[in-house]
Amino acid sequence: MKKWFAVIGNPISHSLSPFMHEKWLNENDIDASYIPIHVEEGKLEDAVKALKLLGCSGWNVTVPYKEAIIPLLDDIDESAKGIGAVNTVVKTADNRFIGYNTDGLGFIKSLGPIKPEDRILMIGAGGAARGIVHAFKQAGFTNISVANRTAEKVARMMADLQIGQGITLQEAENNLGSFDIVIQTTPQGMKNQANTLPIQLKNLKVDAIVADIVYNPLVTPFLEAAKEYNVRTINGLGMLVHQGAIAFSYWNGVYPNSTNMIELLTEQLG
Ligand code: ATR
Repeated sequence: MKKWFAVIGNPISHSLSPFMHEKWLNENDIDASYIPIHVEEGKLEDAVKALKLLGCSGWNVTVPYKEAIIPLLDDIDESAKGIGAVNTVVKTADNRFIGYNTDGLGFIKSLGPIKPEDRILMIGAGGAARGIVHAFKQAGFTNISVANRTAEKVARMMADLQIGQGITLQEAENNLGSFDIVIQTTPQGMKNQANTLPIQLKNLKVDAIVADIVYNPLVTPFLEAAKEYNVRTINGLGMLVHQGAIAFSYWNGVYPNSTNMIELLTEQLG
């Protein structure tokens, strides 16, 4: 039977994953397809049964099912356990379905060459931030501060993940010069959101890397502000591409061409 892969979520029609994976399957001469599946509220269990029954070789999971899918799988790996969410399901040779989370590692790969000694500032303490901090921890980074509007939320996150320290947005702004990598993970700057910045960037280190996990728009107000200081900026497209590339490599045993894909998607969204 021809292999097939999928992405499940709700909504799903705007997902860029089918375009990306179909292109990579083609480029790598793999005879398989990748389809988007809209899963109605309350129908996740039925959908997973159907995917298994119909021989799906692996699938991605997106909003709002990344947590709810966990009890429906046979096992989850360290990354998914630490983050508490799954974005990739892999079918093993003995027909077991294992959950992984490639979002955090995908983000780290999107930064290019960085060093474990680099001092990291995360802004925001939501699900995406949690995934990235966990991946940094697994990759051996120790110097991580997370600045958040709500103190209790960041305190809970740092206690759960057992790394780094929670700080206020004001503290982040005052001490910005002591960070090598600054990562914006709040929804501010997304299309249709308020365009205020979570922190001002005037104390930015001259050789800092500034990243935003948002890719629509490609240049968020946060990155626009960072560009004024001539630092290296990275948008969320790299994270999207690399989380997909890692999933692709789990399913197919090859790491696909991510540089080319970032260019293609930039053209599509630009
Ligand atoms: P996700 O799971 O997609 O990362 P989330 O769980 O809704 O998103 O988390 C959003 C994060 O952005 C939170 O850290 C939130 O701060 P609070 O914990 O104080 O709610 C942060 N956030 C959202 N809007 C913000 C704003 N206008 N200013 C500063 N932080 C904001």
